[in-house]
Amino acid sequence: MMRKRLIVGNWKMNGSRESLSELDGIAAAAEAAPEVDVAICPPFTLIERAAARTPALPIGGQDCHAGEKGAFTGCISAGMLVEAGARIVIVGHSERRAAQGETDAQVKAKAEAVIASGLTAIVCVGETEAERDAGEAKARVSAQLSGSLPVAGGDVLVVAYEPRWAIGTGRTPTMEDVGAMHAMIRAMLEDLLGRERAGAVRILYGGSMTGANAADLLAVANVDGGLIGGASLTAAAFVPIIEAAA
Ligand code: G3P
Repeated sequence: MMRKRLIVGNWKMNGSRESLSELDGIAAAAEAAPEVDVAICPPFTLIERAAARTPALPIGGQDCHAGEKGAFTGCISAGMLVEAGARIVIVGHSERRAAQGETDAQVKAKAEAVIASGLTAIVCVGETEAERDAGEAKARVSAQLSGSLPVAGGDVLVVAYEPRWAIGTGRTPTMEDVGAMHAMIRAMLEDLLGRERAGAVRILYGGSMTGANAADLLAVANVDGGLIGGASLTAAAFVPIIEAAA
C-alpha cells in the first residue's frame, strides 16, 4: 500500500510566541509539497495561536492524559487539545517514558484517548544505547509495540521509531539498522492489527534527522516519514527536510 509521507516537528519545551513566525515558512513549504503531510507539535501554550496562524498546517500536542477530565493537576486531556485546535498528539516519547516513568500501558491508554477524540496518535518506541549494545534493540522495541499500540489501526495511528541514543546527539543508526527495525515494526503491525489496518499506519524515523541526512533516511524501505526535534525549530532547518520528502 502506498502511504503518504509524514514529516512532523516536535518542538519539545522550546519556542515562544515569537517562534510562531517560523510557521509561515514551514506552512509555505508544506503547501508547495502537497504529496507530503507536514505537522508541528509546539508546546501546549502555543497550540491555539499556531493553529490560528497557519490553518492549513496541522498542529499537534506532545502528550495528553488518558482521561477525559478530573483531578489531575497539570495534565491536559485529548479533548482539550481538540478544543485548542490540535489534530495530532505524540504519546510515549522516550523523554516522557524516561523522565516521567510512563509505562507501555499508560502510553496505550493515552493513544486510545487520542484516537477516541478524533485525533491522530503518534506512538513512540525506541531502545537505549545499552539495549542496542547488548543486542536487545529489537526485543525492546517489539515489547514496547505490543504494550503500547492502541487496538485501532489505520491512518489515525502513526508509529515513530526513535532510538534514544540518536535523539539530539547528531548520531544516527546505519541505514541497514534503520531498515531492519522498520521492517520488524511493519511485520509486527501486521500481526497485531491485521494486514489492512496495518497497511495505513505510517512508521516515522526520529533521532537527529536533518536536511543533510533526510533523503537517505527517507529512502529506506518502510520509513514513511520523520519525527524531528532540533531541526524543526526553524523554517531554515525544517524546510529542507520537507523538500527531501517531496
Ligand atoms: O521527537 C523528536 C526527537 O526526539 C528527535 O529529536 O532533536 O534528535 O531530532 P532530534
